[in-house]
Amino acid sequence: KWPEKVTVKEVGPRDGLQNEKVSIATEDKIEWINQLSEAGYDYIEISSFVHPKWIPQLKDAREVAKGITREKGITYAALVPNMKGLETALATNVDEISVFMSASESHNKNNINKSIEETYPVLEEVVKEAKVNNKRVRGYVSTVFGCPYEGDISLNQVLSVSNRLFDMGINELSLGDTIGVANPHQVDETLQFLNGKLDLSKIAMHFHNTQGMALANVLISLQHDIRIFDGSLGGLGGCPYAKGASGNLATDDLVHMLESMGIKTGIDQANLLEAASYIQDKLGKSLPSHQMHVNK
Ligand code: HMG
Ligand code: MG
Repeated sequence: KWPEKVTVKEVGPRDGLQNEKVSIATEDKIEWINQLSEAGYDYIEISSFVHPKWIPQLKDAREVAKGITREKGITYAALVPNMKGLETALATNVDEISVFMSASESHNKNNINKSIEETYPVLEEVVKEAKVNNKRVRGYVSTVFGCPYEGDISLNQVLSVSNRLFDMGINELSLGDTIGVANPHQVDETLQFLNGKLDLSKIAMHFHNTQGMALANVLISLQHDIRIFDGSLGGLGGCPYAKGASGNLATDDLVHMLESMGIKTGIDQANLLEAASYIQDKLGKSLPSHQMHVNK
C-alpha cells in the first residue's frame, strides 16, 4: 500500500529563509547548507536569484552558491524569475534551476510583478536557455489550493498553468499550497482531477503548514502515488508576497513520519536535528517543528 521510498527535497535555505527578518550571515548560510549536505538529501534548494529589494535575505545567492561544498550526488538548485536571474545562476554553476509562477492572477502580480500571460514568454526563454546550458529545470505553481487575494483557484486554471510549464520543457513540477489552506479532501480531489492529465511521477507536493494540515496532505498525496515532497527544516518559511504563508511543512517532521511508517527517505534524523538547531540559534527563535520540541 505504501511506497518503499520517497524523495524529500529541502527548500529551507530558500523558502525557509526568504521571509525571515533576522539577516543570516552568508558564512552561516554556507555552514548550514554544508550541514544539510551531510544529512542524506539528494536535493537542496540553496537560494534564489531574485531582486534583492524584493527578497533582501537572499541577496547573497551568488556568494552562497559559490561558497558551499558541493557533495557528489546532491543537486544544488536555486530559484530564478527571469533571464537576469538565470545569467547570475549560470555563472555560479548551480546544478538545477527552478522557475515559478502562480495559478492566481493577483498573486502572480504581487509576487513577480507580471500578469500570468506576461510571465509565460519570460519563463519560456529561461527554460530554453537553461536547457541549452544542460540544466534541469523544476517548475513551481503557487496558490494551487487557494490564493490570499482571490480565494479558490479552479482546477482547470491549475492544469492550464501546469501544462504551459511542461510544454516549455520543465522536468518536474512542484504544486504549492502557498498559504497552507489545503485540506486532505481537496488534495484528494485535485490529484484525482490531475491524474491522467499530468504525469504524476513528475509532480512534487509543496505544502505549507499554516493550519497544521501538511502531514495529512502528504498522506493523501502518497495514496495518489506522489513520491516527491518539499520540506523546510524546522518548519521555517513562507512567501513574503502571500499574507499568512507562514511555515513550510517541517522536513524533520516529514522525514520522521515517513521513516516511522517504514518509508525510506535516505535522510538521517539526528543530522537533521543538529542542522535545525544550528539555524535556530542563528535566528534566535524557536522553530515550530514537532521534532525540535520532542527532542529538546
Ligand atoms: P520587476 O521590478 O518587474 O523587474 O521585478 P524588472 O524586470 O522591471 O527590472 C527592474 C529592476 O530589477 C532592474 O534594475 C533589473 O535589472 C532588476 P534597474 O535597471 O532598475 O537597476 N532585476 C533584477 N535584479 C536582480 N535579480 C533579478 C532581477 N530581475 C530584474 N533576477 C522580479 C520582477 C521578478 C525581479 C521581482 O518581482 C522579484 O524579484 N520578485 C521576487 C519574488 C520572490 O522571490 N518571491 C518568493 C518566491 S516564490 C514562493 O515563495 C512560492 C514557492 O515557495 C511555492 C509556493 O509556496 O507556492 C516557490
Ligand atoms: Mg513555498
